[in-house]
Amino acid sequence: MSTEALLQQLYDTPETDLIEDIRRLRAELDGKVLILGHHYQREEVFAFADVSGDSLKLSQQAAKTHVPYIIFCGVHFMAETADILTADDQTVILPDPAAGCSMADMADSAQVAACWKELATVLDPDEHVTPVTYINSAATLKAFCGEHGGIVCTSSNAKRVMEWAWKQRGKILFFPDRHLGENTAVAMGVPDADMIVWDPDQPMGGNTPEAIKKARLILWNGFCSVHQLFRPEHVDTMRRAHPGIRISVHPECSRQVCDKADFIGSTEAIIRDVAAAPAGQAFAIGTELNLVNRLRLQHPDKPVYFLSPMVCMCSTMFRTDPQHLYASLKAIRGDGGELNRVVVPTGIKRWSKLALQRMLDLG
Ligand code: 13P
Ligand code: SF4
Repeated sequence: MSTEALLQQLYDTPETDLIEDIRRLRAELDGKVLILGHHYQREEVFAFADVSGDSLKLSQQAAKTHVPYIIFCGVHFMAETADILTADDQTVILPDPAAGCSMADMADSAQVAACWKELATVLDPDEHVTPVTYINSAATLKAFCGEHGGIVCTSSNAKRVMEWAWKQRGKILFFPDRHLGENTAVAMGVPDADMIVWDPDQPMGGNTPEAIKKARLILWNGFCSVHQLFRPEHVDTMRRAHPGIRISVHPECSRQVCDKADFIGSTEAIIRDVAAAPAGQAFAIGTELNLVNRLRLQHPDKPVYFLSPMVCMCSTMFRTDPQHLYASLKAIRGDGGELNRVVVPTGIKRWSKLALQRMLDLG
């Protein structure tokens, strides 16, 4: 049966039956399958995760597992990262191959190669610039970093990675998320005068040769459309309505939002922050809706509010539903549709693994 026909059949199945079927098949495949779930996954899928976490924790987990099949309930760059870090005889599956990341799509290898070439008209980038890619990027960009002395970072280790990168060379080219790079640099005390923004649609990124020579941090002009929905005025509204509230936000939010927050951290760090607070402490959280709703349920003694009045949900994370998860399990058993395997080509794997390994070696 084709995957489409199978999915159609599954959408006609009552969800309670489907959840029971997943449970049964999951138990049947025990020891063969590891299900990794990012914190932004919807509850019905998240409940099946053997390991849940932020991008760093999940990549560390992928690097140390030996099971033959890994089902990655997350988005494409996460499954690629898992494939890079696992052995060739392990299979990484993305239940819905269309689960991408709009931020990762904001930098491609042709644009980054063009940027490197333009920088070379001003200085030798291989001598003066460490490329740093956020893990939310294609494997080809991680490979670019591996090949050019660079490294990968996540939202939970960006500071440590940037310290490392500046020790290697005087400048950093940080892509694709401007905000993570900028917020981390601000927290490290880097002055505005040391940063420039690189707009890939403009010659020289929209900068003069003098500005490039002077800059210590070159920030690619990419962003997460979900986290851009949080605005500084939402922080003001929350503080007015709930005196004493703690504002916790993800570093993919704009600098104006982060400047007003009490706490900035990765999804894993936000979870720890809420857990560590005393009963009664109210929170307004600026990150994806599914995680905030889960925190509210897990901490009934701590009022948890969503920072924005708008619904900030990652539509690509939402693509992984119980139907796709069940179809993946059936494909592993050999009686379903396609596996939707994510395979990073060997040449790209070699260099991207080097960039990821440099990050993992930082601890
Ligand atoms: P972390 O879970 O690593 O904080 O990343 C958030 C995110 O945007 C995942 O795409
Ligand atoms: Fe990409 Fe933003 Fe979704 Fe994370 S939340 S996967 S950065 S679009």
